[in-house]
Amino acid sequence: MKSVRVFAPASIANLGCGFDIMGLALDEVGDVLEMSISEGDGLSIVNCSGVPLPDDIEKNVITPVVRKFLQMTGNTAQVDITIRQKIYPGSGIGSSSASSAAAAFGMNELFGSPLSEEEVVICAMEGENLASGGYHADNAAPAVMGGIVLIRGYEPLDIIKLPVPGDFYCAVVHPQLVVSTKEARSILPKAVPMHDAITQWGNVGGLVAGLYSGNIGLIGRAMKDAVAEPYRKGFIPGFDDLREKILSHGSLAMNIAGSGPSVFALANKREKAHKAGEIMDKHFSALGIEHQVYVVKVSNRGARLTAY
Ligand code: HSE
Repeated sequence: MKSVRVFAPASIANLGCGFDIMGLALDEVGDVLEMSISEGDGLSIVNCSGVPLPDDIEKNVITPVVRKFLQMTGNTAQVDITIRQKIYPGSGIGSSSASSAAAAFGMNELFGSPLSEEEVVICAMEGENLASGGYHADNAAPAVMGGIVLIRGYEPLDIIKLPVPGDFYCAVVHPQLVVSTKEARSILPKAVPMHDAITQWGNVGGLVAGLYSGNIGLIGRAMKDAVAEPYRKGFIPGFDDLREKILSHGSLAMNIAGSGPSVFALANKREKAHKAGEIMDKHFSALGIEHQVYVVKVSNRGARLTAY
């Protein structure tokens, strides 16, 4: 029998302008899986995280990830997995992709690393597909690779790790509003007007240039979304007011985290991120909406082995 203990971080998808193609990894917050393989052919998943998850393993994102790995590498094994730590589902910081990335990375470790990092992301995307009905890698890629990631293309997958210039912090608020990723995707129009497309690709280019040059002002200006936010912000009461307040207190940008309903602010100083967190807290308290706020550093590290 071989076993590993694996951590994969929380992540934030889209980063404003990069719908389905950009995401970043967060520090310290994430999922921990203990995984072992032995002779045989089967899968067991035991949830000891204290976070409620479906008992049916067919509904657990880990299952398609493990199957994809075995299929891609031509292996069979009895795989036993214990979930030790779990980000709350629906928190907007990549709960499903943290499990998927940890499972994909752990399988690769257990079998002597037959897959490249990009192939590990392909396995992790199977979990995203189960969770949201789409093969997007904007949470899965940063959860596997760490840092800020651009998915230049999906066919074939072409992932580019971007520089993280200096220390960045995210304040994230998770309001207790029920919006599934499937629903948040289904309300988006199938076509983007040319004017919005021009705005969007200008911003994506600007964000990439800002990250490479360390131009903080450019990063902030570019993190704007003309494609999904106009439709999704209606799920988040007072979204525009909240952003105005947060930006006036020094954060670089505020956007919907992935498909929402969580919202994140990016700041280049810890104190500014804490201020954004306070404003988020006041905003949702005043609306009588239960919520949690996290302030977390952007991390260059992705999925990794961790001590027992
Ligand atoms: N890019 C995806 C979306 C992220 O916005 O639907 C889901 O977390």
